[in-house]
Amino acid sequence: MTDTLLNHRSIRKYKADPIPNTILDYILEAGARASTTGNMQLYSIVVTTDEVIKEELSPCHFKQAMVKEAPVVLTFCADFNRFNLWCRQRKADPGYDNFLSFFTAAIDALLVAQNVCVAAEDAGLGIRYLGTTTYMAGKIIDILDLPRGVVPVTTVTMGYPDEWPEATDRLPLEAVVHREKYHDYNESDIDMHYREKELMETYQTFIKENGKETLAQVFTDVRYKKEDNVLFSKALLDVLTAQGFMNHP
Ligand SMILES: Cc1cc2nc3c(=O)[nH]c(=O)nc-3n(C[C@H](O)[C@H](O)[C@H](O)COP(=O)(O)O)c2cc1C
Repeated sequence: MTDTLLNHRSIRKYKADPIPNTILDYILEAGARASTTGNMQLYSIVVTTDEVIKEELSPCHFKQAMVKEAPVVLTFCADFNRFNLWCRQRKADPGYDNFLSFFTAAIDALLVAQNVCVAAEDAGLGIRYLGTTTYMAGKIIDILDLPRGVVPVTTVTMGYPDEWPEATDRLPLEAVVHREKYHDYNESDIDMHYREKELMETYQTFIKENGKETLAQVFTDVRYKKEDNVLFSKALLDVLTAQGFMNHP
Protein backbone atom coordinates (compact mmCIF):
# COMPACT_ATOMS: atom_id res chain seq x y z
CA MET A 1 0.00 0.00 0.00
CA THR A 2 2.87 2.40 0.77
CA ASP A 3 4.27 1.64 -2.71
CA THR A 4 0.90 2.64 -4.15
CA LEU A 5 1.05 5.93 -2.23
CA LEU A 6 4.66 6.62 -3.22
CA ASN A 7 3.88 5.89 -6.89
CA HIS A 8 0.88 8.24 -7.04
CA ARG A 9 0.46 10.49 -10.05
CA SER A 10 -2.72 12.21 -11.20
CA ILE A 11 -3.95 10.89 -14.53
CA ARG A 12 -5.38 13.04 -17.35
CA LYS A 13 -5.63 10.47 -20.14
CA TYR A 14 -7.79 7.40 -19.69
CA LYS A 15 -8.46 4.31 -21.82
CA ALA A 16 -12.07 3.97 -22.99
CA ASP A 17 -12.41 0.61 -21.14
CA PRO A 18 -15.18 0.75 -18.55
CA ILE A 19 -14.46 -0.09 -14.91
CA PRO A 20 -16.21 -3.41 -14.12
CA ASN A 21 -18.94 -2.91 -11.52
CA THR A 22 -17.40 -5.49 -9.18
CA ILE A 23 -14.12 -3.54 -9.13
CA LEU A 24 -15.84 -0.17 -8.70
CA ASP A 25 -17.98 -1.51 -5.85
CA TYR A 26 -14.90 -3.01 -4.16
CA ILE A 27 -13.15 0.39 -4.37
CA LEU A 28 -16.21 2.25 -3.03
CA GLU A 29 -16.51 -0.32 -0.21
CA ALA A 30 -12.87 0.39 0.71
CA GLY A 31 -13.61 4.12 0.57
CA ALA A 32 -16.53 3.71 2.94
CA ARG A 33 -14.20 2.14 5.54
CA ALA A 34 -12.69 5.59 6.11
CA SER A 35 -13.01 7.08 9.58
CA THR A 36 -15.84 9.58 9.81
CA THR A 37 -17.03 11.91 12.56
CA GLY A 38 -18.89 9.84 15.18
CA ASN A 39 -19.26 7.18 12.47
CA MET A 40 -22.13 9.32 11.16
CA GLN A 41 -20.90 8.94 7.55
CA LEU A 42 -21.90 12.48 6.63
CA TYR A 43 -21.23 12.10 2.91
CA SER A 44 -22.64 10.76 -0.32
CA ILE A 45 -20.86 9.72 -3.49
CA VAL A 46 -22.58 10.30 -6.83
CA VAL A 47 -21.22 7.90 -9.48
CA THR A 48 -21.62 9.28 -13.00
CA THR A 49 -21.02 7.05 -16.03
CA ASP A 50 -23.84 8.32 -18.26
CA GLU A 51 -22.46 10.27 -21.24
CA VAL A 52 -25.35 12.76 -21.15
CA ILE A 53 -24.81 13.66 -17.49
CA LYS A 54 -21.04 13.85 -18.02
CA GLU A 55 -21.73 16.26 -20.88
CA GLU A 56 -23.84 18.39 -18.55
CA LEU A 57 -21.16 18.32 -15.84
CA SER A 58 -18.36 19.21 -18.24
CA PRO A 59 -18.87 23.04 -18.20
CA CYS A 60 -19.00 22.95 -14.37
CA HIS A 61 -15.44 21.65 -14.54
CA PHE A 62 -14.41 24.28 -17.07
CA LYS A 63 -14.59 21.66 -19.82
CA GLN A 64 -11.57 19.75 -18.53
CA ALA A 65 -11.42 16.82 -20.95
CA MET A 66 -11.19 14.15 -18.22
CA VAL A 67 -14.86 14.62 -17.31
CA LYS A 68 -16.02 13.29 -20.67
CA GLU A 69 -13.08 10.95 -21.31
CA ALA A 70 -12.85 9.11 -17.98
CA PRO A 71 -15.34 6.23 -17.75
CA VAL A 72 -16.31 7.22 -14.20
CA VAL A 73 -16.78 10.61 -12.55
CA LEU A 74 -17.31 10.59 -8.80
CA THR A 75 -18.79 13.61 -7.01
CA PHE A 76 -18.14 13.50 -3.27
CA CYS A 77 -20.68 15.47 -1.26
CA ALA A 78 -20.90 16.68 2.31
CA ASP A 79 -24.31 15.23 3.24
CA PHE A 80 -26.39 15.95 6.34
CA ASN A 81 -29.66 15.26 4.50
CA ARG A 82 -29.71 11.51 5.17
CA PHE A 83 -28.66 11.92 8.81
CA ASN A 84 -31.24 14.69 9.42
CA LEU A 85 -34.00 12.51 7.94
CA TRP A 86 -33.02 9.63 10.22
CA CYS A 87 -32.99 11.93 13.26
CA ARG A 88 -36.46 13.30 12.47
CA GLN A 89 -37.86 9.80 11.84
CA ARG A 90 -36.55 8.78 15.26
CA LYS A 91 -37.91 11.69 17.35
CA ALA A 92 -34.48 13.39 17.48
CA ASP A 93 -34.05 17.10 16.75
CA PRO A 94 -31.04 17.68 14.43
CA GLY A 95 -29.00 20.83 15.12
CA TYR A 96 -26.92 20.62 11.96
CA ASP A 97 -27.97 23.72 10.02
CA ASN A 98 -24.69 25.54 10.70
CA PHE A 99 -21.24 26.11 9.24
CA LEU A 100 -19.49 23.74 11.66
CA SER A 101 -21.76 20.92 10.52
CA PHE A 102 -20.96 21.65 6.87
CA PHE A 103 -17.24 21.59 7.67
CA THR A 104 -17.63 18.31 9.59
CA ALA A 105 -19.46 16.69 6.68
CA ALA A 106 -16.91 18.07 4.21
CA ILE A 107 -14.10 16.46 6.22
CA ASP A 108 -15.93 13.11 6.12
CA ALA A 109 -16.45 13.40 2.35
CA LEU A 110 -12.78 14.21 1.71
CA LEU A 111 -11.48 11.37 3.87
CA VAL A 112 -13.69 8.94 1.95
CA ALA A 113 -12.59 10.47 -1.37
CA GLN A 114 -8.93 9.90 -0.57
CA ASN A 115 -9.60 6.32 0.57
CA VAL A 116 -11.39 5.70 -2.73
CA CYS A 117 -8.46 7.19 -4.68
CA VAL A 118 -5.86 5.05 -2.92
CA ALA A 119 -7.97 1.90 -3.33
CA ALA A 120 -8.43 2.72 -7.03
CA GLU A 121 -4.71 3.25 -7.60
CA ASP A 122 -3.98 0.02 -5.74
CA ALA A 123 -6.33 -1.75 -8.19
CA GLY A 124 -4.39 -0.36 -11.18
CA LEU A 125 -6.76 2.52 -11.94
CA GLY A 126 -5.84 6.18 -12.38
CA ILE A 127 -7.54 9.14 -10.74
CA ARG A 128 -7.53 12.93 -10.83
CA TYR A 129 -9.25 15.31 -8.42
CA LEU A 130 -11.13 18.29 -9.85
CA GLY A 131 -11.12 21.40 -7.65
CA THR A 132 -13.69 23.10 -9.88
CA THR A 133 -16.42 21.41 -7.81
CA THR A 134 -16.35 24.06 -5.09
CA TYR A 135 -16.33 26.88 -7.68
CA MET A 136 -19.44 25.57 -9.43
CA ALA A 137 -21.22 23.80 -6.58
CA GLY A 138 -24.59 25.48 -7.30
CA LYS A 139 -24.74 24.23 -10.89
CA ILE A 140 -23.59 20.73 -9.88
CA ILE A 141 -26.37 20.65 -7.25
CA ASP A 142 -28.93 21.31 -10.00
CA ILE A 143 -27.49 18.73 -12.42
CA LEU A 144 -27.16 15.93 -9.84
CA ASP A 145 -30.46 16.73 -8.03
CA LEU A 146 -28.70 17.25 -4.68
CA PRO A 147 -31.27 18.13 -2.01
CA ARG A 148 -30.95 20.67 0.84
CA GLY A 149 -28.28 19.49 3.30
CA VAL A 150 -26.01 18.22 0.49
CA VAL A 151 -23.06 20.15 -0.99
CA PRO A 152 -20.54 18.74 -3.50
CA VAL A 153 -16.99 19.23 -2.19
CA THR A 154 -14.76 17.45 -4.66
CA THR A 155 -14.86 15.41 -7.86
CA VAL A 156 -12.60 12.55 -8.93
CA THR A 157 -12.24 11.24 -12.48
CA MET A 158 -11.33 7.55 -12.63
CA GLY A 159 -10.37 5.01 -15.26
CA TYR A 160 -7.58 2.84 -16.60
CA PRO A 161 -4.58 5.11 -17.26
CA ASP A 162 -3.52 5.79 -20.84
CA GLU A 163 -0.38 7.68 -19.71
CA TRP A 164 2.20 7.37 -16.95
CA PRO A 165 3.48 10.91 -16.33
CA GLU A 166 6.58 11.74 -14.30
CA ALA A 167 5.88 11.94 -10.59
CA THR A 168 5.43 15.57 -9.56
CA ASP A 169 7.76 17.25 -7.09
CA ARG A 170 7.09 17.74 -3.40
CA LEU A 171 8.56 20.19 -0.91
CA PRO A 172 11.16 18.54 1.33
CA LEU A 173 9.67 16.87 4.40
CA GLU A 174 11.23 19.40 6.76
CA ALA A 175 9.26 22.13 4.99
CA VAL A 176 5.93 20.62 5.94
CA VAL A 177 6.62 18.79 9.21
CA HIS A 178 6.94 20.63 12.54
CA ARG A 179 8.40 18.78 15.50
CA GLU A 180 6.43 19.24 18.74
CA LYS A 181 5.31 22.81 17.95
CA TYR A 182 4.91 24.96 14.85
CA HIS A 183 8.14 26.73 13.97
CA ASP A 184 7.38 29.73 11.79
CA TYR A 185 9.51 30.24 8.68
CA ASN A 186 12.09 32.98 8.26
CA GLU A 187 13.18 34.32 4.89
CA SER A 188 16.04 31.87 4.47
CA ASP A 189 13.80 28.89 5.37
CA ILE A 190 11.45 29.91 2.57
CA ASP A 191 14.37 30.30 0.13
CA MET A 192 15.69 26.87 1.14
CA HIS A 193 12.37 25.01 1.01
CA TYR A 194 11.27 26.39 -2.38
CA ARG A 195 14.72 26.46 -4.02
CA GLU A 196 14.63 23.03 -5.64
CA LYS A 197 11.10 23.58 -6.99
CA GLU A 198 12.00 27.01 -8.39
CA LEU A 199 15.06 25.63 -10.19
CA MET A 200 13.14 22.88 -11.97
CA GLU A 201 13.10 23.26 -15.73
CA THR A 202 9.35 22.61 -16.01
CA TYR A 203 8.61 25.50 -13.67
CA GLN A 204 11.17 27.78 -15.38
CA THR A 205 9.30 27.16 -18.65
CA PHE A 206 6.00 27.71 -16.87
CA ILE A 207 7.19 31.12 -15.63
CA LYS A 208 8.31 32.17 -19.13
CA GLU A 209 5.11 30.89 -20.79
CA ASN A 210 3.05 32.97 -18.39
CA GLY A 211 5.25 36.07 -18.84
CA LYS A 212 6.01 36.25 -15.10
CA GLU A 213 9.13 36.91 -13.06
CA THR A 214 8.64 34.28 -10.33
CA LEU A 215 6.81 30.99 -9.89
CA ALA A 216 4.81 32.42 -7.01
CA GLN A 217 3.44 35.07 -9.40
CA VAL A 218 2.10 32.33 -11.68
CA PHE A 219 -0.04 31.21 -8.73
CA THR A 220 -1.11 34.66 -7.51
CA ASP A 221 -1.61 36.35 -10.89
CA VAL A 222 -2.64 33.51 -13.21
CA ARG A 223 -3.75 30.23 -11.62
CA TYR A 224 -5.42 31.21 -8.32
CA LYS A 225 -6.16 34.95 -8.54
CA LYS A 226 -7.64 37.01 -5.73
CA GLU A 227 -10.59 38.20 -7.82
CA ASP A 228 -11.53 34.61 -8.69
CA ASN A 229 -11.12 33.51 -5.07
CA VAL A 230 -13.43 36.29 -3.88
CA LEU A 231 -15.99 35.59 -6.60
CA PHE A 232 -16.10 31.83 -5.94
CA SER A 233 -16.09 32.39 -2.16
CA LYS A 234 -19.27 34.44 -2.48
CA ALA A 235 -20.87 31.81 -4.72
CA LEU A 236 -19.95 29.02 -2.26
CA LEU A 237 -21.32 30.97 0.72
CA ASP A 238 -24.59 31.43 -1.20
CA VAL A 239 -24.69 27.68 -1.85
CA LEU A 240 -24.11 26.92 1.84
CA THR A 241 -26.96 29.28 2.71
CA ALA A 242 -29.30 27.75 0.11
CA GLN A 243 -28.44 24.22 1.25
CA GLY A 244 -29.29 25.11 4.86
CA PHE A 245 -25.86 25.31 6.48
CA MET A 246 -25.72 29.01 7.49
CA ASN A 247 -28.76 29.20 9.72
CA HIS A 248 -27.06 31.22 12.45
CA PRO A 249 -25.97 34.85 12.96
C1 LIG B 1 -8.53 19.24 -4.23
C2 LIG B 1 -7.78 19.08 -5.53
C3 LIG B 1 -8.24 19.72 -6.66
C4 LIG B 1 -7.61 19.53 -7.90
N1 LIG B 1 -8.13 20.09 -9.02
C5 LIG B 1 -7.60 19.79 -10.23
C6 LIG B 1 -8.22 20.26 -11.42
O1 LIG B 1 -9.25 20.94 -11.38
N2 LIG B 1 -7.65 19.93 -12.60
C7 LIG B 1 -6.53 19.14 -12.68
O2 LIG B 1 -6.07 18.87 -13.79
N3 LIG B 1 -5.91 18.68 -11.56
C8 LIG B 1 -6.44 18.98 -10.34
N4 LIG B 1 -5.86 18.49 -9.20
C9 LIG B 1 -4.66 17.66 -9.31
C10 LIG B 1 -3.42 18.43 -8.85
O3 LIG B 1 -3.08 19.39 -9.80
C11 LIG B 1 -2.29 17.42 -8.60
O4 LIG B 1 -2.68 16.57 -7.56
C12 LIG B 1 -0.99 18.12 -8.22
O5 LIG B 1 -0.50 18.88 -9.29
C13 LIG B 1 0.09 17.11 -7.83
O6 LIG B 1 0.26 16.18 -8.86
P1 LIG B 1 0.12 14.62 -8.58
O7 LIG B 1 -1.25 14.38 -8.00
O8 LIG B 1 0.28 13.93 -9.91
O9 LIG B 1 1.19 14.25 -7.61
C14 LIG B 1 -6.45 18.71 -7.97
C15 LIG B 1 -5.98 18.10 -6.80
C16 LIG B 1 -6.64 18.26 -5.60
C17 LIG B 1 -6.14 17.54 -4.38
